[in-house]
Amino acid sequence: MTQSPGQGNALDNLLTESRTFPPSDEFAAQANAQPALYEEAKADREAFWAKQAERLHWETKWDQVLDWSGAPFAKWFVGGKLNVAYNCVDRHVESGHGEQVAIHWEGEPGDSRAITYAELQREVSKAANALTSLGIGAEDRVAIYMPMVPEAIFAMLACARVGALHNVVFGGFSAEALRTRIQDSEARLVITTDGQYRRGNPAPLKPAVDEAVAGAPSVEKVIVVKRTDTEVAWTDKDVWWHELVDSQSDQHTPEAFDSEHPLFILYTSGTTGKPKGILHTSGGYLTQASYTHNYVFDLKPDTDVYWCTADIGWVTGHSYIVYGPLSNRVTQVVYEGTPNTPNEGRHWDIVEKYGVSIYYTAPTLIRTFMKWGADIPAKHDLSSLRVLGSVGEPINPEAWIWYRENIGGGKAPIVDTWWQTETGAIMISPLPGVVSTKPGSAQRPLPGIGAKVVNDEGVEVPHGGGGYLVLDEPWPSMLRGIWGDEERYRDTYWSRFKDQGFYFAGDGAKYDNDGDIWLLGRVDDVMNVSGHRISTTEVESALVSHPTVAEAAVVGASDETTGQGIVAFVILRGGAGADAGGAEAIKALRDHVAKEIGPIAKPRQIMVVPELPKTRSGKIMRRLLRDVAENRTVGDVTTLADSSVMDLISAGLQSGK
Ligand code: WTA
Repeated sequence: MTQSPGQGNALDNLLTESRTFPPSDEFAAQANAQPALYEEAKADREAFWAKQAERLHWETKWDQVLDWSGAPFAKWFVGGKLNVAYNCVDRHVESGHGEQVAIHWEGEPGDSRAITYAELQREVSKAANALTSLGIGAEDRVAIYMPMVPEAIFAMLACARVGALHNVVFGGFSAEALRTRIQDSEARLVITTDGQYRRGNPAPLKPAVDEAVAGAPSVEKVIVVKRTDTEVAWTDKDVWWHELVDSQSDQHTPEAFDSEHPLFILYTSGTTGKPKGILHTSGGYLTQASYTHNYVFDLKPDTDVYWCTADIGWVTGHSYIVYGPLSNRVTQVVYEGTPNTPNEGRHWDIVEKYGVSIYYTAPTLIRTFMKWGADIPAKHDLSSLRVLGSVGEPINPEAWIWYRENIGGGKAPIVDTWWQTETGAIMISPLPGVVSTKPGSAQRPLPGIGAKVVNDEGVEVPHGGGGYLVLDEPWPSMLRGIWGDEERYRDTYWSRFKDQGFYFAGDGAKYDNDGDIWLLGRVDDVMNVSGHRISTTEVESALVSHPTVAEAAVVGASDETTGQGIVAFVILRGGAGADAGGAEAIKALRDHVAKEIGPIAKPRQIMVVPELPKTRSGKIMRRLLRDVAENRTVGDVTTLADSSVMDLISAGLQSGK
């Protein structure tokens, strides 16, 4: 399962990068973060986190900062009580900021809406009352399957307010993917929209919900927001948002929940076909989301306009659109659509229109902007931008430099933030104004966080050495398990370095000579396509569920734009027919994967092969397939059960060209 870190990885060339960019004196002088933060955290970690928790409003204060006696299940701020939604909304109104814009929402077709904190409070209260009217309360699960409309955020906060867990499912996932996530979490309610705008056109969304709900008996009701006004089929479970929610009272008294009260489940791909329901709780999660958002982005709530381009379907949208920013009283842009609608300058139009000062995006999008050309951002006034962020995959130095020069005016610090759905919030990142940044490196654990690069034996490697990234101290926003599967939680994250008690992140990493950390990509069977985690097994199961496919092996091959691209090798069934390997049939297979998982999982390339390379124990040697997919000379084949297989594959591909 585990490859050696960085193996066959084009990212190795990152390590020759040696430029550094020290913060300007002006930036350093006004920065939220100061060098002393590192010292303070080192001197007393728990006291440090207790101080960060004071950023929030607690109805009842905790009596213990950390209880790690049930490791690997942590409890943070034990005995404390708070309401997460109150912290993100009401307290800002109570402190006199009700008229501050919380969300500048920008619809893809050009419609927009400015939502103040006072209005947000009313909307979230109405939605919370609506949930209560349906009998949804503490510990119930609510699936949210929506595009980036304001109601998606209201819905998440309404769940938090009444103590229900939201399970947000990315709107690009298929009905089947939605069904498994609803079923695994036994959601009682689904919140969705009639349709969504994608690349300038309305596309239906509700039919996928209908299909999923038909196979998910736990669902009692479906709330539907009208967004595109497309015709939708109606079932007796369905109720319109505007009919149910708009008639509710806009007053709602939030109840304080235990610090360890569950907040949400978010499914993410693991190394097996079944997605993992990552569970997060309240007090620790919100503390770290708030703390990191404040220091990593240097947020000044009175003057900044922040924009995170993620979708709420991913953890970045949870922690850096909803919980971190709103707990910090941000003014932020939320954009509904694609970056090239109506043209490739859309993001820069938005930056200009709202005076965005902090911009957080993914390397895959930066590389896409590069491809579209520097003349596009050059036509816009981007001088409001003062901090730039990157997340989701390693950022190559060329893209980093391009981002700095063409978007950041050659001076905005870039924060390359490493974290995961499981970590809940940023773990490794330079602090702007304190750390001299380096193109391509996430650099160092944040104050209060313990991260190391270790070898196979769990021993820390010396500077210049490579190995596996581990987290060696519990952190407040760490996952509290995998929904309904305690064993899988222990196995996946805590068994690899059991003796040391380290959390195994699944990423390869390296120290440079200064001791800064460089992430090298996944070391397990998880691919990273445009910053989205997709497991090879998931795509393989989708392929073999097609009647023409006998066997499939999937690898992530490096891709200039998306980081990795999905390349599949399939063996067709005997009776599949002569056309089964033709262009039409391959297209059908790609569409089949999109239907089973979602368009993001569509293989870039599918190659029909007579055999797959396997070891004597029957394990597919993906390393060799990756060599083929990346057009390299095939590596060592001596452990293959039949070493002629690779010749057969190569010969077949040659003749097929
Ligand atoms: C990768 C996204 C390098 C990594 C927040 C991790 C990164 C996985 C970075 C988590 C980064 C994320 N540099 N790699 N700055 N950020 N990754 O759960 O492989 O969708 O394990 O969370 O993305 O993906 P997830």
